[in-house]
Amino acid sequence: MPHLWTPAARVISPRPPEPAPTESGARPAALLRGEFTARAAVRSARLLVTALGVYELELNGTVVGDHVLAPGWTSYRHRHRYQSFDVTALVHEGRNAWGAHLADGWYRGLLGFNGGTRDVYGEHTGLLAELRVEYTDGSADTVGTGDGWRWSPGPVLTAGLYEGEEYDARREQAGFSEPGFDDSAWQPVEILDFDTTVLFPADSPPVRRIQHLAPVSVTTSPTSRTILDFGQNLVGRLRIRVRGEAGRTVTLRHAEVLEDGELCTRPLRHATATDRYVLRGDPAGEEWEPRFTFHGFRYAEVEGWPGELDPADITAVVLHSDLRRTGWFSCSDDSLNRLHENVVWGMRGNFVDVPTDCPQRDERLGWTGDVQVFAPTAAFLYDVRDFLRSWLRDLAADQGDDERRIPPVFSPDIPVITPVPVPPGNPPMAGWCDAAVVVPWVLYERYGDTEVLRAQYPSMRAWVDAVDRIAGPARIWGEGFQFGDWLDPTAPADDPGRAMTASTLVATAYFAHSARLLARTAGVLENEDDSGHYHALADAVRDAFIARFHAGGGRLTEETQTAYALALCFRLLEDDADRAEAGRRLAGLVAERAHRIGTGFLGTPLVCDALADTGHVGTAYRLLTQRSAPSWLRQVDMGATTVWERWDSMLPDGSVNPGEMTSFNHYALGAVADWIHRTVAGLAPAEPGYRRLLVRPLPGGGLTWARAAHDTPYGRAEVGWHREGGTLHVDVLVPPGVTALVELPGTDPMEIEPGRHSFWAPFPQPHGDARGSGSGRPSHRITGSPDQCKEHT
Ligand code: BGC
Repeated sequence: MPHLWTPAARVISPRPPEPAPTESGARPAALLRGEFTARAAVRSARLLVTALGVYELELNGTVVGDHVLAPGWTSYRHRHRYQSFDVTALVHEGRNAWGAHLADGWYRGLLGFNGGTRDVYGEHTGLLAELRVEYTDGSADTVGTGDGWRWSPGPVLTAGLYEGEEYDARREQAGFSEPGFDDSAWQPVEILDFDTTVLFPADSPPVRRIQHLAPVSVTTSPTSRTILDFGQNLVGRLRIRVRGEAGRTVTLRHAEVLEDGELCTRPLRHATATDRYVLRGDPAGEEWEPRFTFHGFRYAEVEGWPGELDPADITAVVLHSDLRRTGWFSCSDDSLNRLHENVVWGMRGNFVDVPTDCPQRDERLGWTGDVQVFAPTAAFLYDVRDFLRSWLRDLAADQGDDERRIPPVFSPDIPVITPVPVPPGNPPMAGWCDAAVVVPWVLYERYGDTEVLRAQYPSMRAWVDAVDRIAGPARIWGEGFQFGDWLDPTAPADDPGRAMTASTLVATAYFAHSARLLARTAGVLENEDDSGHYHALADAVRDAFIARFHAGGGRLTEETQTAYALALCFRLLEDDADRAEAGRRLAGLVAERAHRIGTGFLGTPLVCDALADTGHVGTAYRLLTQRSAPSWLRQVDMGATTVWERWDSMLPDGSVNPGEMTSFNHYALGAVADWIHRTVAGLAPAEPGYRRLLVRPLPGGGLTWARAAHDTPYGRAEVGWHREGGTLHVDVLVPPGVTALVELPGTDPMEIEPGRHSFWAPFPQPHGDARGSGSGRPSHRITGSPDQCKEHT
């Protein structure tokens, strides 16, 4: 267990009086300050800090660290994260001062849909900070927030994650975090009671400013508004440089799309996403970026700009958790490359401290189903090990300790106002609550992390046991409301759960899948009793699934793409002949829809695997490269720069889907990227943590080359192939300590050692649905030693 903080400092709060709520309902950020004396020359100084709310802390006039929206969002009642900074360079002998901006953030700001809720975690914001100063003479002092600190309203008039930020630069208090500042007009802070046992050190990379983008165009809309286009749907906020008279207000509004040439803000629902800056009138110009908000947008409308707007004066600051990039893909088809890029941007925008469904409207919640399907893609593209482990700790905490122990549908969990009364406790939702089992398993599979399995095991088991209780001896469940195969293309705009595939089929398939993964987890943890028990349960659920949904001969009673994809990928159909027929039937269903997608959140990540694994590679490619709606590339053709929530978030005529739930940045349907990495490029883990690679590219779709690279826990792995006439040429880089199983179309599998290798094999027939079985070894040459690979790690 890492070192925990038991502060001597107290949580201080800027009250009373409580600042009056404003028109948007968002509340102001307060300024807080304190001073202390360092008795001697300073050898080192370490700051521990967190907030009930979000903070930006300054020491002697300098902002500490480059974190944004710290301390981030966790299930605060159970786990409250703090940050730790080495501030030796900022503290000096004699008088010192420190201060902070403090705003509502997730702690007390508006959260959730249907109007949302304020004060979810508490009614008062607070700051908790402690400094340990060691002197060169060997002595030390600890100072912290507590009595003696004072607070004042500051320049941030309002700050809400959804609402945006309003800032009046005339109300800045220059020097407030420097010693000697006159705070006689400030008020004393109040001490808040706070349970410090929930404090824990940062266990996930912080949110930072990752990139700056210049506008690609500035245009005037039909109603004469100034509209900036950043060319990319992104998550962050604008930084402006402006010169004008004191008191002038510049207003910045944000949206993902335009409709009839104007910002389309309806899909944002209650998120007003508006920032306002009131100039102080500095003749040298002034620069501003909001501190305590973020928006999902590609377009921004600027109002009140003094004089001519120079596009160079506005940049978009891209924010997200500062994850290490670990995965890359490219191929000969630019549309597929754009789709992949859209998946990457969708991930960036939705990995803002918690894995969210969407980053723009009044939601931005850690929806479990979305990350359940996207986790494999995420784990390829970025190092998400710490990020998702932290989130899983919250999920387990939110699972509660009542006897049902059902995971939340989003974590951190918040009360949600719904039009219908919801029974107490978390609703059991197949595919969503299964994140409790699937996400730890993905981390094990991709990082070889057995610790996450050990830590999450009670949470994983509690969910499977809960479903076991709910399903009862029949082993079938999912009657009544389920999210199901959410948002399949036939779901009506106003009823996203009304999918083609019955929710009992989906829920029972997931029950079998989670029971099997749990059994395998117990095996990894050498808990043989549990492993036997859950394998038996998984077998029983599979049998119940077959008895209920298998019409015989590989045909299912539910003839949908998702039904077959689930039965095949979760290996509920086991018999070879049944699987072959199910694969044929699935390919037939896809063809009946003219090779257009027919799956929602749960079927989409599986359908290409189900097709390819049953030999229908050509059909999988026809789905992937389909340009007619609904399809992935239709979105690309319509100019998407992130993956949409609905297959038709934008309707064919370019208007925005009338559904009240229409986001242009949801990663769930982008989960196909995992198949693209594993199958189009052919780079997959064959054993946990990529200790053994599976190199199995299945060329198709008219592609002439594809390649992928991934920084595995052992170092860089690469697979690249290209077509040379009738020959498939494959280059593989196997990192040190790793072996690879190479399976090329029409040839026998072979096992290779670390190093660079090249292979030649006959290029498979275009759109051939048969994968072909071994008919000889591919030509193979080792072109580099394992030592050379090290240079790539
Ligand atoms: C969210 C989803 C989520 C779903 C639950 C929506 O409002 O945006 O992505 O998984 O609700 O069904």
